[in-house]
Amino acid sequence: MSASRLSPMPIQDKRVRYVEVAGEIAAVLEGERDRTARMATVAALLREAFEHFFWVGFYVVDRANPHELVVGPYQGTLGCLRIAFGRGVCGAAALTGQIQIVPDVHAFEGHIACDSRSQSEIVVPVFDASGALIAVLDVDAVHKAAFDAVDGEGLDAILKATFSI
Ligand code: SME
Repeated sequence: MSASRLSPMPIQDKRVRYVEVAGEIAAVLEGERDRTARMATVAALLREAFEHFFWVGFYVVDRANPHELVVGPYQGTLGCLRIAFGRGVCGAAALTGQIQIVPDVHAFEGHIACDSRSQSEIVVPVFDASGALIAVLDVDAVHKAAFDAVDGEGLDAILKATFSI
């Protein structure tokens, strides 16, 4: 991987890219209701749109155990399978329903290291049309501080348009 492939993007470029990829996702998913297909498509198109997204994917609320997340569609290296609510960054997002932006994963108490190359992370909760939590979207980068509020807004807008319908 080259340095440019891994580097975070300038904020303005990022805003434009989020709008572009939101349009691509909406176009590809038009008429497709299946949730797994929607998650797989979001993960694949985000990974292509942002080359510094080292790992991008979903942890889904387990129907059999609603206080646990189980890995869903993702792009990247092997992810851990299950995360209890309240554990790690994903568990914090699931428990609070709030976006988590972690500039340095080593400084986050209880961070779960699925791949030691990950240095920073953003996790965005995903809700259905009734407002129930259905999953979280986790994005990891190999650079520290790769994510900011622009990523939070861009990802949240895509997730709302894709799953809160
Ligand atoms: N780091 C996450 C776990 C998921 S992986 O990074 C793919 C966390 O602390 O919740």
